[in-house]
Amino acid sequence: MTVEILFSAADRYYRFAVQELKRSFPVVDHVAVGEDAGLIRLDGAGLAEVADAARTGGLRFVRHLAEVAEHRAAGDAADPEMIIELAESAAGATEPIAVQVWASGRSRHRPEAVRAMIADRLTAAGRTVQRAGCATVLAVCLGERRVVIGRTRVADALSDWPGGRMRLAESPQQISRAEHKLEELFSLLPLTITGDALDLGASPGGWTRILLERGARRVHGVDPGEPAPSLARRPELSWHRTTAGEFLRRSKRTFQVIVNDMRMDPLLSVQTMITAAPLQRHGDLIIITLKITTNRPVELIDRALDDLGERYKIIFARQLHHNRNEVTVVGRRR
Ligand SMILES: C[S@@+](CC[C@H](N)C(=O)[O-])C[C@H]1O[C@@H](n2cnc3c(N)ncnc32)[C@H](O)[C@@H]1O
Repeated sequence: MTVEILFSAADRYYRFAVQELKRSFPVVDHVAVGEDAGLIRLDGAGLAEVADAARTGGLRFVRHLAEVAEHRAAGDAADPEMIIELAESAAGATEPIAVQVWASGRSRHRPEAVRAMIADRLTAAGRTVQRAGCATVLAVCLGERRVVIGRTRVADALSDWPGGRMRLAESPQQISRAEHKLEELFSLLPLTITGDALDLGASPGGWTRILLERGARRVHGVDPGEPAPSLARRPELSWHRTTAGEFLRRSKRTFQVIVNDMRMDPLLSVQTMITAAPLQRHGDLIIITLKITTNRPVELIDRALDDLGERYKIIFARQLHHNRNEVTVVGRRR
């Protein structure tokens, strides 16, 4: 029996999501839905297995998943009424249901208008409709080439946002846009931070701020650059104005968590983490962003995770919505 799955990825890295899906699963068919979404047909594996691989580091470029109920060529789904009827029949009976609609590439439909029409129709039929926070999601992707309607358990969707595009508000306390990467990660992965933290490549200090907010006792920020003035005043901060290599040569402390958002070749960045490994105990955490390009990123990440795997068990490796040319990796000290 074959199963059709809708997936999303970053547009620039879409082809690498396909590469990883094909090498890990029995993909018998693949069609692009739009610039950052596609459909695969699997023979002998289902959504739960694909979601599991994406959650545990086997698929790094897939951001969002849904099991397909219906799809039509974009030209055949020009009338919104057709999309609404398909969505209504795909909605099933689970209560409440989240309705999430997004566009991939140039669509003739406006996602918010289509969502409102679907939500009105379901509500009129006595259903409880939300945007998120439900066990089941009705996912509608208005693709440039195809319109796809899926229904999925939120646990298998990887993200409770339309197409995985998480929106985060700017806050007055925010120091850098990089903060969103860490916030998105924490929303996907429950990580407990209680002890001392080391932030490599910390300037201007967005990640440091989030670590303190998340419960770090003290953060040691390391960067040749400066901390933001709002952070520099905080008593729980120790700032070391130097490079990671220089700091690690001298440090004798231990850290429950080490984060690394350094702009650096990914294999060198991993070597830095291996140098830092003696400063951690079994079970301690690392969070690192591996900077990549579209030149053979799958092979590069394989190699980086292999090297890192000597000292750390990888528990998460994915390109998040807020990662541009990078992948976020989380590991625990072996
Ligand atoms: C993307 S920024 C980090 C942003 C930070 N995570 C935040 O939230 O504000 C990358 C930083 O890495 C630092 N960096 C690059 N190479 C470094 C090295 N060898 N040692 C320490 N910091 C380094 C740069 O100075 C830069 O401030």
